[in-house]
Amino acid sequence: MYTTLLTSLDNGIFTITINRPDKLNALNAAVMNDLELAMQEVGVNVDIKSVIITGSGQKGFVAGADITEFQGLTSGEGMDLARKGQNVFFMIENSPKPVVAAVNGFALGGGCELAMACHFRIASENAKFGQPEVNLGLIPGYGGTQRLVQLIGKGRALELLMTGNMVDAQTALQYGLVNYVVPQTELLGKARSILELINTKAPLAVSRCISAANAVFGHGNGFDIEIEAFGECFGTEDMKEGTDAFLQKRKANFSGR
Ligand code: COA
Repeated sequence: MYTTLLTSLDNGIFTITINRPDKLNALNAAVMNDLELAMQEVGVNVDIKSVIITGSGQKGFVAGADITEFQGLTSGEGMDLARKGQNVFFMIENSPKPVVAAVNGFALGGGCELAMACHFRIASENAKFGQPEVNLGLIPGYGGTQRLVQLIGKGRALELLMTGNMVDAQTALQYGLVNYVVPQTELLGKARSILELINTKAPLAVSRCISAANAVFGHGNGFDIEIEAFGECFGTEDMKEGTDAFLQKRKANFSGR
């Protein structure tokens, strides 16, 4: 049913594994479509009580949106991409069933944004988090500018957004970006044990914990501003230079245009 995801349902826990390990599970259009379908399945399948999202392989959770699909996009197409990404991630954030990210490696760009759209995060010791879009002449477009500020505060968020630096799992723990750091071999077990406990609680009450907690932030127009700003980046020379440089495996030389 899915071309880019592996899924399994065991004892009420639905595990979604993004399965492009040779590309560090980068989010291309096919993955985003599959994630949308998977969240629809979560919504309608009464046997699913809770969800784990993780990445295939030992190195990457998700290393970002697929940069090869950025090339040649207009500003308007950039905005469409951000709108679609935000909508899929809103499905995760607003899922009435708990969704936990089991971050097993790099969670960069769209990968960090995906983890942040989940209700909470558990990381393996080798995990790394960051929003490196600025290296590409871009900004996050799948809700990252909003959720990073919500989760770790404005100062830390702006430092990560503007430097493009990565933080390791222990720093992510200290920032409150993840709830636990465990050895990679224990990652899925840890996520499962928390969800097994949640699955014994009243499902309607659990759903309302999620919707009430989400209401603290609301979906203000910061998300719309992000879509517009993300799209505007596609009209710049720097974005073309940044993505070309990544794909040619060289350092970008930005002109400010
Ligand atoms: N989009 C498309 N392809 C990606 C990708 C992305 N976001 N991230 C990694 N890949 C691909 C690489 O191009 C490479 O493909 P290749 O083997 O065909 O050349 C493969 O995944 C493995 O990545 P590689 O860069 O060789 O691994 P590494 O261990 O040297 O570096 C990272 C790992 C995560 C530091 C590096 O891949 C990276 O910087 N990725 C981009 C991160 C990013 O900018 N994300 C935000 C996008 S908006």
